[in-house]
Amino acid sequence: MKKAYIKTFGCQMNVHDSEKMAGILRAQGFDLTEDRQNADLIIFNTCSIRQKAEQKFLSELGRTRRMKERRPALRVAVAGCIAQQMGEKLLKRAPHVDYLFGPQNLHALTGVSEKESLLALEENPGLATMELPVLRKERGRAWVSIMYGCDNFCSYCIVPYTRGRERSRPSESIVSEVRALAAEGFREVTLLGQNVNSYRSDVDFPGLLRRLNGVDGLARIRFVTSHPKDFSPELVDALAGLEKPCEHVHLPLQSGSTRVLREMNRKYTREEYLKKVQALRARVPGVAITTDIITGFPGEREEDHRDTLGVLGEVQFDGIFAFAFSPRPGTRAAAMQGHLPDAVRSARLAEVLELQDSITLGKNEALTGTTTEVLVEGPGEALPGQLTGRTRTNKIVTFQGGEDLEGTLLDVRIVRARRHSLEGEVLSS
Ligand code: 5AD
Ligand code: SF4
Repeated sequence: MKKAYIKTFGCQMNVHDSEKMAGILRAQGFDLTEDRQNADLIIFNTCSIRQKAEQKFLSELGRTRRMKERRPALRVAVAGCIAQQMGEKLLKRAPHVDYLFGPQNLHALTGVSEKESLLALEENPGLATMELPVLRKERGRAWVSIMYGCDNFCSYCIVPYTRGRERSRPSESIVSEVRALAAEGFREVTLLGQNVNSYRSDVDFPGLLRRLNGVDGLARIRFVTSHPKDFSPELVDALAGLEKPCEHVHLPLQSGSTRVLREMNRKYTREEYLKKVQALRARVPGVAITTDIITGFPGEREEDHRDTLGVLGEVQFDGIFAFAFSPRPGTRAAAMQGHLPDAVRSARLAEVLELQDSITLGKNEALTGTTTEVLVEGPGEALPGQLTGRTRTNKIVTFQGGEDLEGTLLDVRIVRARRHSLEGEVLSS
């Protein structure tokens, strides 16, 4: 049987796309392997959101050239956002690449073993109604796409160029996928889209949550990512009123300065953001809020940076993902005046991370002694006999337990706080 190896870079969207590629390959009789040395087909599912992710991939791709010299039957595929963005330029730079297809053309992988070469980079308007097979690695939680693409054009972001126009998947097909997952034993689904709050088919996003809340056997619903501009009172109502959506919202702030937010084309002010956070907290007690921050956007002044630190102090996020600004070719920000030196971008990043670290640790410490429900994801990385799972508020908890507990919901008492995780003891199973 032929073996395929898939390496995923980047976001959750890509992780799920890789599961779809695995599903398509499995349907053609491929075995998925973790060992690229023995693979007949190597796929890189790439990310172009920041330069660092690009560089990592390009150096790995270089190594496959020598592998192919030794084993000419090996096929190398580049998928994902870099494939989309670089297109044939990538083939010039790496002529040993056989297959090139973008995130809107995963279905091009069908029948791949009969193909000498493959180039599929076109805009795919039908993406939202395509049903692709999915091969999932986990047993307890599953990703589910609810929309594709993005129309927001934040000035720093490459996604609208690589993933194309925004399209919502019909609610009926989402509901039937989730029903089937629940029937298979999955307890949690994470709804995926670049901006889930602008989901629209026969229902809007709160309407979709209401429908999914009625799926028997399902215990938890998560969703990423929310755009603050579309984070509506109706959604807050749905989160407050429904039991399955988890008490966690990822609400990317990007900057705490209204001036910078305008340059970023985010379409909300610092004050509007803060009001939405307040409204959410007032209606959903104990809700965890996480965010994304970009430091050193072109033209960001010291006072803008202070504004960002100020919002971090005020909101007290449960966690953040912070990045130094990385110019992406073709975006508006890349062509702006006032690019800051690397040293300034990284120094501001370090300040943001340091402040947040103390906030996160404080929040985690406040949880010691409490009891919380955890969905078991699988073995922990550190010690044998250790499992890892997540609370409804999306905090990682490690504890002792057998692997047969994978995919189940347990009550766990938090005994120790770490900076990026909690340590617990199982109370019941
Ligand atoms: N530079 C730095 N960070 C970026 N992000 C998106 N584009 C860039 C960029 N050009 C960050 C944003 C986004 C997260 C997924 O990645 O914070 O929310
Ligand atoms: Fe995901 Fe964006 Fe990276 Fe594409 S560029 S993989 S959408 S994070």
